[in-house]
Amino acid sequence: MKFSICTTKVTETKSSCIILPIFEEGQLNQAPKLIDTAIGGIISDIQNNGDITGKIGQCQILPVKNNLYKRVLLVGCGKYAEYSESKYKKAITSALKKLTSTNHKSATSFLTVGHKSSKKLDYRAARIMAEAWHQVSYKYTATNSKKIKQFALNKLSLGTNGRKRNPEMKKGLDHGNAIGLAIKKVKYLGDLPANICTPSFLVKEARKIASNHSTVSLKVINEPEMKKLKMGALLSVTAGSVEPSRLIILNYRGGKKNQKPIVIVGKGVTFDSGGISIKPGHKMDEMKFDMCGGAAAIGILQAVADLSLPINVVSIIPACENLPSGKATKPGDIVTSMSGQTIEVLNTDAEGRLILADALTYCQRFKPKLIIDMATLTGACIVALGHHLSGLMSNSDDLANKLLSAGEASGDGTWRLPLGKKYTNQLKSNFADMGNISGGSGGAGTVTAACFLEKFVNNIEWAHLDIAGVAWLEGSNKGATGRPVSLMSEFLIQESNKP
Ligand code: BES
Ligand code: MN
Ligand code: ZN
Repeated sequence: MKFSICTTKVTETKSSCIILPIFEEGQLNQAPKLIDTAIGGIISDIQNNGDITGKIGQCQILPVKNNLYKRVLLVGCGKYAEYSESKYKKAITSALKKLTSTNHKSATSFLTVGHKSSKKLDYRAARIMAEAWHQVSYKYTATNSKKIKQFALNKLSLGTNGRKRNPEMKKGLDHGNAIGLAIKKVKYLGDLPANICTPSFLVKEARKIASNHSTVSLKVINEPEMKKLKMGALLSVTAGSVEPSRLIILNYRGGKKNQKPIVIVGKGVTFDSGGISIKPGHKMDEMKFDMCGGAAAIGILQAVADLSLPINVVSIIPACENLPSGKATKPGDIVTSMSGQTIEVLNTDAEGRLILADALTYCQRFKPKLIIDMATLTGACIVALGHHLSGLMSNSDDLANKLLSAGEASGDGTWRLPLGKKYTNQLKSNFADMGNISGGSGGAGTVTAACFLEKFVNNIEWAHLDIAGVAWLEGSNKGATGRPVSLMSEFLIQESNKP
């Protein structure tokens, strides 16, 4: 897709389709008004007939006889008085979705974020449009034998209706494009079945990023090396699998040499059967998505490198399967983590925290400025927050607040849950430094999982995102969502804007 800025007046735009906003109050503003006049009042006519009411996301394509543009796509933007960035996102997403079912090769959008124009709003409009295109054009095809038709659209422009271009517009398109491509990659990796998307497959994906960017280096740790590093927690999870596990480290250096990196850790369980504490069969296939945190760590690093953000970022992905076998870890087994702390594995299905524990210890050699981990960690998080918000837990109010607001800004929201000694106490074990699950009937499974992780972060500024409810959709729309790439990209862009 070629994204561009089109600075001609709306009536002089050369594009197969022009996209115009319609509001519920009925009045036509700037661009739609000019086009309405140019095409003989057809827009006001269909409004008067009630064919389009302006309801958010409503789409109507008008054929027009004209040498410049062939079609006008009217998009409902809701109430004029309530128009906002999130309404813009809905409207542009509907319009682009509509275009995927047409043969138009090019389109120019005259939707704006808000009613006034400013550089900041130009940036948001451009970024959201590009990201939305990638969201609607993602199609999983990797394992379907029938080839699916490609979209005709190959040029998408942001129309300014005669206003001069400014650098924020181009920057918005670049940012939206990089974030959108990262989301596509995460969806693709998530959707792939576990017999294709193995730990070694994730290594190959990570290697592509390192080969394409001189700013990125890759280090891969294999099982013999994990043994030398004494990663007993990670090794206990992979013990039952034939497929070898890997610890993937992608290192992006875009900031000053001595600037401490932001470390991102992503859970990469490429299939979670539960191990000896085996899961029931219903929906077990969805446990191929248990690597979505790891995929997000890969995707986010790709976006940061594509954008050459002036920060240092390290992504660490412990990748393995969790399967039962004669060699598998058993409930009650006690393992020693890389940190030296011992863990009683009371339930082999609480494996994510075990692999993250060693990754969190390992990552400290990078002297992180802060650590953020992302993991499809607990079913309890779905009970608490459903499929709308990620669970956020942090030892730092400052970091938690930044992530909460990045979530709001990106539409990829989170909700903060507590940590604390009372919850940590639920992890006590009679036989080891801790159990891997809460022993009693204390509940709060999402929080106790985070308390377990906290034991491995050594008071470094840290946040944990439980993405169990948001990383994929179930039912007829089954598929990975690419979350929390939007949230994390927003956060990292904000961090890189600081002097
Ligand atoms: N990957 C799962 C969590 C999960 C389950 C995410 C369902 C999304 C949907 C995780 O490894 C797990 O199995 N957690 C257990 C923990 C329990 C044994 C304390 C859970 O949530 O049941
Ligand atoms: Mn599990
Ligand atoms: Zn899991």
